[in-house]
Amino acid sequence: MKVASRHWIASPGAPLHGVLTIPGDKSVSHRAIMLAAIADGVSRIDGFLEGADTCATAAIFQRLGVRIETPQPGVRIVRGVGLDGLRAADGPLDCGNAGTAMRLLAGLLAGQAFDSLLIGDASLSRRPMHRVIAPLARMGARIEAAQDTRPPLRIHGNNIVQAIDYECEIASAQVKSAILLAALRADGETCVREPCPTRDYTERMLAAFGWPIEFAPGVVRLSGGHRLRATDIVVPADFSSAAFFIAAATLVPGSELHLQRVGINPRRTGLLQVLRAMGANIIESNVSEQGGEAVADLLVRHAPLRGIDVPIALVADMIDEFPVLFVAAACAEGITRIRGAAELRVKESDRIARMATGLRELGIVVTETPDGADIHGGRLLGGSVDSSGDHRMAMAFAVAAQLAAAPVRIDDVANVATSFPGFDALARQAGFGLRAL
Ligand code: S3P
Repeated sequence: MKVASRHWIASPGAPLHGVLTIPGDKSVSHRAIMLAAIADGVSRIDGFLEGADTCATAAIFQRLGVRIETPQPGVRIVRGVGLDGLRAADGPLDCGNAGTAMRLLAGLLAGQAFDSLLIGDASLSRRPMHRVIAPLARMGARIEAAQDTRPPLRIHGNNIVQAIDYECEIASAQVKSAILLAALRADGETCVREPCPTRDYTERMLAAFGWPIEFAPGVVRLSGGHRLRATDIVVPADFSSAAFFIAAATLVPGSELHLQRVGINPRRTGLLQVLRAMGANIIESNVSEQGGEAVADLLVRHAPLRGIDVPIALVADMIDEFPVLFVAAACAEGITRIRGAAELRVKESDRIARMATGLRELGIVVTETPDGADIHGGRLLGGSVDSSGDHRMAMAFAVAAQLAAAPVRIDDVANVATSFPGFDALARQAGFGLRAL
């Protein structure tokens, strides 16, 4: 097996050009496997992300007794076992680096007849699980976590789960989705309200699988007692992966890059609004629907950026794009202020602290606040940065290096394979200066 590279040496390459196809959406791929697995009948998933996170989810369902075939890369045929057809695995279920897998599975497994043990890698084992344990416990689930409500999670079976009316304290699609998946097996109507709207893929996909559901931004309602009907899913290209190329083409002079069929669900594309407000030139065309999700081709041309105050209302709609926004801000004229983004501290790493440290290493002035940062645009120098095993930080620093005065060494990049296998090859094809070691 090819061992993923542990570090990159990145430096300015050529202006970015060409037509790129970005791999499938991670959030949609996880959910497609989960819902297809508990549906009645055979579902086909096209555009499935062959990332470590989503492959971990597929492997977990195989361990739970679901037959999943891979006729070719990016395609899965899932032979659904129905809502009551999962069976106990013969050991722990390994979610790897995937917070989405662990939190959504906690909900989906909460009402099953058998016990499950969910484990994860070192990064996932540090992430907070209280946010899903608390609402699921109110529904009657029994979930034990390690100290301080961190993984592993032991989910006790044979518990009848009850419907719930739940007001989330934090804006989290993972928490909302965990409750909704548990609610499929509960009697009565469950309602989840959010402090601000988050990505609605679970809701849209439940509807695509034929489950009656009502949802509007910030509120969703469904009742237990229905069945899921197998359906075919076409996964759009992942906007969060496209974001690295959108930012790079904006920042590198002379660039003109086309990105094909990218998912533009408004709950994901806050970065487009922020970059445009900073001066970016991004044109959407061929807007259409693919498998119930809006997709578009994006044309990105270089444009100089100026710092802005990032609207707090857009934070949830760009929650995974902050690492690359930090880089765009470092290259912009003036100061970019980020607030209301404390959630970044509990992602795959503390993305506020780690991005601030990395950019300072490269000569940028960054002031941290508890829920954000002030980033002073400046001149990026060469140096050495640590991505802390966080895929999005590694790719963000690779973008930063395209503007740096000297080469940048980026350590601990193997986890890029969790969300964007092949990133380095695609980046080089577009014009990045990037060597994997
Ligand atoms: C995800 C939701 C977000 C996001 C994560 C994927 C999902 O997390 O950061 O990468 O697929 O539901 P939160 O909902 O916890 O903010």
